[in-house]
Amino acid sequence: MKILMVCLGNICRSPLAEGILRQKIAENNLDWTVDSAGTGGWHVLEPPHKLSQKVAKLHGGDISDLRGRQFLKSDMDAFDHIFVMDKQNYQDVQYIAGNSWNPNKVHMILSFTRSGMDADVPDPWFDNTIQAFENVYQMLDKACDNIIEVFNK
Ligand code: 4NP
Repeated sequence: MKILMVCLGNICRSPLAEGILRQKIAENNLDWTVDSAGTGGWHVLEPPHKLSQKVAKLHGGDISDLRGRQFLKSDMDAFDHIFVMDKQNYQDVQYIAGNSWNPNKVHMILSFTRSGMDADVPDPWFDNTIQAFENVYQMLDKACDNIIEVFNK
């Protein structure tokens, strides 16, 4: 199964989600792949935000190898499931996908937590504090546990 994590810049939230799920895929010996992308192109080829790298490290992960890229129309066909961080990402993915749009493949990532429903993962870019990034980490960690539970059948 091929999974894509999507946010706006592909430097704060989605690389963290990619790193968390990558670790869980390895721990569970799953035959899955995970990638991430941003709906915007400002941070293409940049490594994840320093604070995303820092919280990943605090939890035993290493995402320093990841590089930003922009979401492509062809990603809609190339991936089995696409997880977006917020409602704006959802709309932007739909816009970029155009006639390739497939709503069955696109999910708000917090719909995979018990409390989440269609809540947004808050963008930590503006706060720019370790607490904001840690808060995002906790949300994504729970969501990724549930993604494994739901799709590993
Ligand atoms: P992300 O956060 O979508 O979680 O990667 C952002 C990163 C950069 C910008 C906005 C959000 N930006 O405006 O450059």
